[in-house]
Amino acid sequence: MIKKALVLGALTLSLLAGAPQKAWTQTKEENNMSRILIAYYSYSGNTKQVAEAIQDKIGGDLFEIQTNHTYPAEYRAMTDQVKKEISEKFRPELTTKVADMKQYDTVFIGSPNWWGTIAPAVDSFIESYDLKGKKIVPFITNGGGGVQNTVKDLTAVCQGCHVETNAWVGYGNDTAGLDRWLTQITAQK
Ligand SMILES: Cc1cc2nc3c(=O)[nH]c(=O)nc-3n(C[C@H](O)[C@H](O)[C@H](O)COP(=O)(O)O)c2cc1C
Repeated sequence: MIKKALVLGALTLSLLAGAPQKAWTQTKEENNMSRILIAYYSYSGNTKQVAEAIQDKIGGDLFEIQTNHTYPAEYRAMTDQVKKEISEKFRPELTTKVADMKQYDTVFIGSPNWWGTIAPAVDSFIESYDLKGKKIVPFITNGGGGVQNTVKDLTAVCQGCHVETNAWVGYGNDTAGLDRWLTQITAQK
């Protein structure tokens, strides 16, 4: 009888020890097993660089938003096309898919600033999933204009999401401030 009680007690203790309330802030190893997605769209590589730096620091799953859509090689023609697409609310078709969005509590979403807003592919991404109730953490790379309407527009498209207002905004190679920002973001949870 005493033996049984001891075994039960040990079992309870080990269960409690194995299941503490863990925030996703703890360690990279824990985050790797938990529920963080770092989704990004990147045309010329800057946003990809930031996405990879975020994953490197906090773990989680990296996901590249890709489309079957092409742009002209010439920069001016490309930017003109994007301007038109944004004004027409064009949504490119996505060619990559998150296998199980339900498993993620927190979704980092990265986009370049294109004409003051997020890239159309990022709109397509947000509209393709049920992100209601999830914590959305935007990160934006830009060419000098800063945040402009990017986070505001992302928030409008992401209905029912909890969008973090303290978004990261910077250049692709400007990952110096990333540590500090990630510490602030993760400390909130
Ligand atoms: C079509 C287009 C529009 C852009 N519009 C802006 C803008 O309005 N403001 C800004 O600061 N940078 C703008 N940029 C610069 C990009 O935001 C910047 O280069 C970004 O880091 C690119 O990210 P990526 O390499 O991940 O594609 C624009 C770039 C392109 C190609």
